[in-house]
Amino acid sequence: MSPSDEPRGRQYLEKVRPEAMTHLLAFFRESAKHLEPKTRFLISVVTKTINYSPRGLRQYIKRSMEAGASRDEVIDAMLCAYPCAGLTKVCDAVTVLLEMNLPEGAAAAEWHALEGAASLAESQVRAFTAGGRKIAVVRHEGRLWALEDTCPHRGGSLSEGSAAGGVLTCPLHGWNFNVKDGSGAGVGRGGAACFEVREREGRAEVRIPAK
Ligand code: FES
Repeated sequence: MSPSDEPRGRQYLEKVRPEAMTHLLAFFRESAKHLEPKTRFLISVVTKTINYSPRGLRQYIKRSMEAGASRDEVIDAMLCAYPCAGLTKVCDAVTVLLEMNLPEGAAAAEWHALEGAASLAESQVRAFTAGGRKIAVVRHEGRLWALEDTCPHRGGSLSEGSAAGGVLTCPLHGWNFNVKDGSGAGVGRGGAACFEVREREGRAEVRIPAK
């Protein structure tokens, strides 16, 4: 099986084993719920290096950098895979990174104020603009989470959607996104970029990578 066959296989499993896949995906979401998005995505870089999945590497290199990881942190994650993956897979993973032609400075990210976000109530969603990006910010489990405000399906504004139980639902066609990592709730559906948020002394900030 080539790596590119994976989405088709996953879609088929969702169709013929819907309960098993629902539980499996819920397990993955819950098992990392205390980790920041950047950490979760870097761990996925480690596992995609061990399994050597170029498609998965491209996905999680991009997502970890969008969440604020530096190029060096991505390389560190690949090196951490060495005891299980061996040198050949680590070098192949680094080759995937190089072939993505990411600029050296892609890791640069800055904190931007989210004026008024600290007052958001549980499950309340609001739109912000920070670092030239439109952001949907939602509070869940007492913390703030930030996703790209543009739905990857057809561009709906996620900040105009509804949030419940850590899931943000697009108002246009109902796609669901995990607020913690932007992953699409449906198998085979693309996720939304997400960003690191911090709150200090009643002020909220979001970390946006440089373009
Ligand atoms: S635009 Fe968001 S679900 Fe279609």
